[in-house]
Amino acid sequence: MSDTIFPKDFLWGGAIAANQVEGAWLADGKLPDVTDTVVGIHSKHPSIKWNKDNQIWELNLDPNTVYLSHKAIDFYHRFDEDLHYMKEMGFKAFRTSFAWSRIFPNGDESEPNEKGLEFYDKVIDTIIKYGMEPVITLSHYETPFNLLARYGGWTNRKMIGFFNNYSKTVFDHFKGRVKYWMSFNEINNTMKYSYVAGGILPVPPKNPDDPLSEISQQDKFQASHNMFVAHATAIKQLREIDPQARMGVMCSFSQVAVYPNNPDPKNVLGAYQFTRKALFYTDVMCRGHYPAYIKRVWRENNSAPKITEGDLELIQKYTSDYIGFSYYKSSLYDQSTEMKVDTGGAVGLDNPYLTIKAPKPWNWPVDPIGLRYVLNVLTDRYELPLFIVENGLGLDEKPDANDVIHDSARCQYLKLHIEQIREAIKDGCNVMGYLWWGPIDLVSAGTGEMKKRYGFVYVDRNNDGSGTLQRLKKQSFDYYKQIIKTNGENLDYREIEN
Ligand code: BG6
Repeated sequence: MSDTIFPKDFLWGGAIAANQVEGAWLADGKLPDVTDTVVGIHSKHPSIKWNKDNQIWELNLDPNTVYLSHKAIDFYHRFDEDLHYMKEMGFKAFRTSFAWSRIFPNGDESEPNEKGLEFYDKVIDTIIKYGMEPVITLSHYETPFNLLARYGGWTNRKMIGFFNNYSKTVFDHFKGRVKYWMSFNEINNTMKYSYVAGGILPVPPKNPDDPLSEISQQDKFQASHNMFVAHATAIKQLREIDPQARMGVMCSFSQVAVYPNNPDPKNVLGAYQFTRKALFYTDVMCRGHYPAYIKRVWRENNSAPKITEGDLELIQKYTSDYIGFSYYKSSLYDQSTEMKVDTGGAVGLDNPYLTIKAPKPWNWPVDPIGLRYVLNVLTDRYELPLFIVENGLGLDEKPDANDVIHDSARCQYLKLHIEQIREAIKDGCNVMGYLWWGPIDLVSAGTGEMKKRYGFVYVDRNNDGSGTLQRLKKQSFDYYKQIIKTNGENLDYREIEN
């Protein structure tokens, strides 16, 4: 047992996203969103085709491909059972997203789809009934496909109006029930996953067979700028509609734990510059202005966004209340090797100092100290409350003959990360909560597969689409329950394994 460090109201819990769990992709008026057109956001070729006559993109699903997210784990029909598991673990908070296209199926309607709101009424009321605080992402890679197909997505300034019609609708509707909101999941991924995260699609395309290759740096900065304005406007709306509620930014900050490979000043500077690609987003959305370093990038790449009068004042005035972020792993930078990216952050050289074996085939290195490092960097730079809204470990696992799922690697990952959060709190970081990514198995965002399982609850569904969808608790279920019950004090998991 160690000291009690976590504040009494610490938000222990878990996080999922509509598109990775709900399924029912066309139920009750919902229309496709951008994620419905791909198998994983790493995909470079979405299932779409250009209709020259109508000058619009259309869906073009491949009959031989399994789009697991279309049915996912059927949370749409099983949310009560699933949320009950979370209650059993003692969750204080539960994060999910609203599928934007359930509420505004085409994205450009003026009135919402009542059936969509009804579904989320039930979900939110169940979360609250089970003693949890709902934490809602307005778009977790879920821009309605029509907005890309017809308008080109976030490079188009009209998107601000569409998004803020949606945000105002849900703020009015869920006023008093939802306290914690975030606008765009991992908004900094607009740069690397410009189609799914950035919601960008050239209209009309120059090359209809490979439209994503046409997306320019300028497009990415333009889409980011439009999202900054939409985010600031959403904060303005929320402060007027529900002053008790809070709006956070949400970034992928594994990309802040980027270490130089050695003391070569070029590597030290290079690693720092790499982290700024992520920090740029919070610099704008939390400090309220474009940082000087980005203007050099715009100048040298001719990629400055078009900024409309009044935008900068809005961004300056309405900054985020807290920083929500995901952290999975760190990476090692060397100027001689090109840094790659994935959903977990950045991919550089192997770090010989990380001794825990990274689970295969994904090889995401395990670096708990990296989380403490990120919490401290963010505290020094912004002095804002920090909310870890994603951290987790994906494993390829199956029940044994007795239906037991042994996941001590997950327990160890949890223990080591919570120890480092504890250290960060002692360092003076204001950490609001910790949400485990994927407390129930779900469809992977990166690869669109089921095999990469994050849950404390197993779901019987496989990559080929087979499976009964039956749920089963893993060993880590009781471990996380114990952690929450003791407010992060008892991290011993040996008993649970036996
Ligand atoms: C984050 C996303 O990037 O990483 C989640 O917000 C995602 O949607 C998570 O699931 C883990 O990535 P993956 O590729 O393992 O699902």
